[in-house]
Amino acid sequence: MTSHMKPPTSVLFVCLGNICRSPLAEGALRKMCRDAGFDCVIDSAGTAAYHTGDAPDARAIKVAAQNGADITGLAARQIEPEDFYKFTHIFALDRANLEGIKAAAPRDGTAKIAMVLDCLEGCQGQSVDDPYYGDEVGFQVVWEEVSLAASALVKQFAKHGAEAQF
Ligand code: 4NP
Repeated sequence: MTSHMKPPTSVLFVCLGNICRSPLAEGALRKMCRDAGFDCVIDSAGTAAYHTGDAPDARAIKVAAQNGADITGLAARQIEPEDFYKFTHIFALDRANLEGIKAAAPRDGTAKIAMVLDCLEGCQGQSVDDPYYGDEVGFQVVWEEVSLAASALVKQFAKHGAEAQF
């Protein structure tokens, strides 16, 4: 790698089940990166294993599709130790997820860990609320929040690459 090249950025979004919020965050950032021509590795996972192998919730698939993102091919998985070395950034969707991620983190893991809304001025420390037990409107709110975050992330990554801090 020559000195002017930034190291590649790689992002893992983490919620509880990996079927609602983090797949929407993954879909939103993928779309944003594609539109911006920005190269970034993107994945999502859950702190829990309840839904391992499942496709995203039908309501998440629908909201993503309405906004030009196809998340039908995703399959839920639980976060694993390797993730803390493979990804430059790990973003929790809510505070409980952040605690779960930190509890699972190997001591020498290299990923920078933050909450996804930390990248938005005035939203630091705020959670993306779990829409699972609610109605479709909750999924639209999640999409709006993760899209705003995705837009801010692309700007920060374009500026600072893998060194971006949140
Ligand atoms: P997510 O939502 O963490 O945004 O994927 C949930 C999905 C499933 C459950 C809870 C939250 N559940 O209890 O099965």
